[in-house]
Amino acid sequence: MAALFTKETQAIFWNNNVSAIQRMLDYDYTIQRATPSVAAIVAPTGDAKFQIFFWGADEIMIPLYKNTAEAKKAHPNADVLLNFASFRTAYDVTMEALEMGGFNTIMITAEGIPERLARKMNATARAANVTVIGPATVGGIAPGAFKIANVGGTIENIVNSKLHRAGSCGLVTRSGGLFNELSNIVAINADGIAEGVAIGGDRFVGSVFIDNLLRMQDNPEVKYMLLLGEVGGIEEYKVIDAIKEGKITKPIIAWCIGTIAKYYDSGVQFGHAGASANATRETAEAKNNAMREVGIHVPNSFNDLPKVIAEVYNDLKAQGVIGEITEPQINVVPKVRKSKQFICTISDDRGDEATYAGFPISSVATPDTGKGIGDVIALLWFKKQYPKWATDFIETVIKTVADHGPAVSGAHNAKVTARAGKSVVESLVTGLLTIGPRFGGAIDGAAEHFKYAYDNNLTPAEFLNHMKKLGIPIPGIGHRIKSLRNPDLRVVGLKKFASEHFPSTPLLEYALSVEQLTTSKKDNLILNVDGTIGILMVDMWRALGYSEEEINEFIASGTLNAFFIAGRTIGFIGHVLDEKRLAMPMYRHPMDDILYQVDEAEEI
Ligand code: ACO
Ligand code: LMR
Repeated sequence: MAALFTKETQAIFWNNNVSAIQRMLDYDYTIQRATPSVAAIVAPTGDAKFQIFFWGADEIMIPLYKNTAEAKKAHPNADVLLNFASFRTAYDVTMEALEMGGFNTIMITAEGIPERLARKMNATARAANVTVIGPATVGGIAPGAFKIANVGGTIENIVNSKLHRAGSCGLVTRSGGLFNELSNIVAINADGIAEGVAIGGDRFVGSVFIDNLLRMQDNPEVKYMLLLGEVGGIEEYKVIDAIKEGKITKPIIAWCIGTIAKYYDSGVQFGHAGASANATRETAEAKNNAMREVGIHVPNSFNDLPKVIAEVYNDLKAQGVIGEITEPQINVVPKVRKSKQFICTISDDRGDEATYAGFPISSVATPDTGKGIGDVIALLWFKKQYPKWATDFIETVIKTVADHGPAVSGAHNAKVTARAGKSVVESLVTGLLTIGPRFGGAIDGAAEHFKYAYDNNLTPAEFLNHMKKLGIPIPGIGHRIKSLRNPDLRVVGLKKFASEHFPSTPLLEYALSVEQLTTSKKDNLILNVDGTIGILMVDMWRALGYSEEEINEFIASGTLNAFFIAGRTIGFIGHVLDEKRLAMPMYRHPMDDILYQVDEAEEI
């Protein structure tokens, strides 16, 4: 791969380092990337599902995952891992990602990973043909395409250093600070950077100078290279060899910092762990001389570096190797930004016509669209278009549970409230408030417990035992008036629909085997309408390809009871309107229907 990153490159960012990620997104916005350069964030602690970032003046949500595997599974195209784990964790995170595969580049920021581990990690990456940037680095940049975290500093500095669009210099340094300094020097004396990498300051880093320079040799955007070495190590000699062997033909400008080391009595270690000369050939001076000998443009001092850059650049320009750059349009990141208080991901009323999950209302509302209430529920509750068999099932459920007469808890409550002179909405909510684990609201519980039993291969008897231990009646089993002798025809209808339209119904089959056992004890312990709905919804979601985790989340958030709530609302309103139409007086319960058992008061 000639270019390290493109404008489509996306990364998984390990650790929710909000300010560094925001800098990446500000960069993306500035250079008008179509997609954010961070596809996902791995945040091992905490329960949040996403992090909000600014995108220009607007905001976007970047999903959070608990581990790299989940993030990679959800974002298979993100082939860069930005490993911002601490030095204690960075090795494990890198090794796990290497084992997982699918990453072309892994950048490791941590400083101080034990050298033994760093060497093993780097060797594993090399064998897997993965470019490692770091450890102990700020990263790298492909200007106009992709920028790692804090490289280049603030957005103002980035634009001033022309890091917002590709130039023609390939820059490799060890240090991140000097990387920024040099980008600025190159911007002033030439046309900026085509690709730049700070390989990191540790003694054992993944990709070394030569790896990056060889890649840049193959990258047509790079017309010449700038290498900033430092005292210590022999990596510069590999570059010298590559030039001798003809593997590198593009002009290189280079300088090894640390020439001052010779004025000290003994080997001095500079800022980086690797910056210490262990032999004469590791001194900055020796390396500068050796590089000069093979035709690398080596200035006489660091101060002369800008002059040499200008000379090489102007030369290449005169030869026609480097052309003019048309300055691209950029977006300007607003100085003052305000985060939004609410988020909505299901509908949007800002355009000419409001949308449900992106679909204009008119595309689902009228009969000619072929869409029904099942489609609307799929869009507004699940943000997806469901296939016809699934939307038909949802509609069947809604219609099936719309009412079950005036005697049931909720209808009774709604009627009593209406007769007390309350409004439709007040009466309705009193009815809705009765929906719970005993009445109409056993659907989530049924799905949860039957799914648990099925997933754990419990026999019906083991399941009954398990529920007995929990001390709760099995949700979805039992009915006050329905029984084997007086079957609930709603359940019959739902089962018939499922057998005719569902691809498969494994959980229903399991529930029916449980029902055989419960009805053998007492014939009203049937699989009731709540149970049938909850269980078939799980079968539906599995057939639609939802993950177990997603299904568990639906159940935990009360999604299933919502089908009963939505359906029965129709019936409750009917009962309230019935009361109003009949102008029924206030209800008072007959006293002879109440067992009064109140102790006589003692004398006060
Ligand atoms: N799981 C295990 N045992 C049960 C269950 C159950 N779901 N339901 C009743 N039983 C047992 C009782 O513990 C009792 O046992 P016992 O005789 O040894 O003491 C026996 O069956 C008698 O039960 P009933 O009194 O006939 O049941 P009841 O009519 O009181 O309850 C009810 C009906 C409330 C629906 C009950 O079965 C229940 O709680 N089921 C679970 C909740 C549920 O699914 N509700 C939704 C119903 S459908 C709807 O509302 C739309
Ligand atoms: C209902 O749908 O309301 C019921 O199944 C409850 C009942 O007692 O009829």
